[in-house]
Amino acid sequence: MSSGIIPLPIHVEPETRTQAGPTFHLGDCRDILSDYPNDYFDLIITSPPYADARKNTYGGIHPDDYVTWFLARTAVFQRVLKPNGTFILNIKEQAKNGERHTYVLDLILALRTQGWLWTEEFIWHKKNCHPGKWPNRFRDAWERCLQFNLNRKFNMYQDAVRIPMGDWSKERLKKLGKNDVRRFTSQVESGFGKNIQNWVGRDLAYPSNVLHMATECGNKNHSATFPKGLPKWFIKLFTQEGDYVLDPFVGSGTSCHVAHELNRHSVGIDTVEDYIKQAQHVYD
Ligand SMILES: C[S@@+](CC[C@H](N)C(=O)[O-])C[C@H]1O[C@@H](n2cnc3c(N)ncnc32)[C@H](O)[C@@H]1O
Repeated sequence: MSSGIIPLPIHVEPETRTQAGPTFHLGDCRDILSDYPNDYFDLIITSPPYADARKNTYGGIHPDDYVTWFLARTAVFQRVLKPNGTFILNIKEQAKNGERHTYVLDLILALRTQGWLWTEEFIWHKKNCHPGKWPNRFRDAWERCLQFNLNRKFNMYQDAVRIPMGDWSKERLKKLGKNDVRRFTSQVESGFGKNIQNWVGRDLAYPSNVLHMATECGNKNHSATFPKGLPKWFIKLFTQEGDYVLDPFVGSGTSCHVAHELNRHSVGIDTVEDYIKQAQHVYD
């Protein structure tokens, strides 16, 4: 498969995949993916249109219709995702009529009924969120990145996202108390235990499920782009070089651009021709 804009669904044979660059398709992801084989992708990472949010730019789905609309597409994602693959869904509910709409919560429950496991929820903390205040709430500075899997056993490369231990460890690990040198059960009765001593002498630690990243718009002609660091983190965590990444709502192409930089194959789909052109333009 060569890189380029492919306006109509095509039949895709695995052996025709190349490392030439991402493949971008113009169209509804449900239609385009109907021509992809089963068990093709290692990771699906995406930020779909949020219900009603950007009606004037790339359309929106009424919050009450959102779950039905989305499930028709996740049924296809389920088929094209490998059994040990992962689906990361970046989404955040709006406030409507003075309260948060429940369509994301409804969606999580519906996806479980559809057969997905809701494995984890990561929080993307938007570090550079602009100031603001509304009569009944403060500024929104985080979004959900929901992790779904088809099986309890899935590919996860945790060492690929380790982070420097940081200065706190120098002080904290210098003087170990008696509770630090044995597995010590949480005093808040969380059921978790820890042995701080295990971290002495280590330079790298595993991150938490809160990702602190600034939003980026750069000079992209799209109103809701991922910061590159976000797909990068998940692509490193859930895939290896040569694996296959899908962003079915690819917008300006960020996930595919990052996947390509990390030597992964990737496919991006969007219904807006300008976005697909922009995404592809990087490789022209
Ligand atoms: C939140 S944006 C994605 C932005 C992207 N993460 C980026 O970094 O640029 C959602 C995108 O989904 C596209 N879209 C909406 N409905 C779609 C559909 N049925 N199939 C494919 N793309 C769709 C919109 O045009 C929009 O560009």
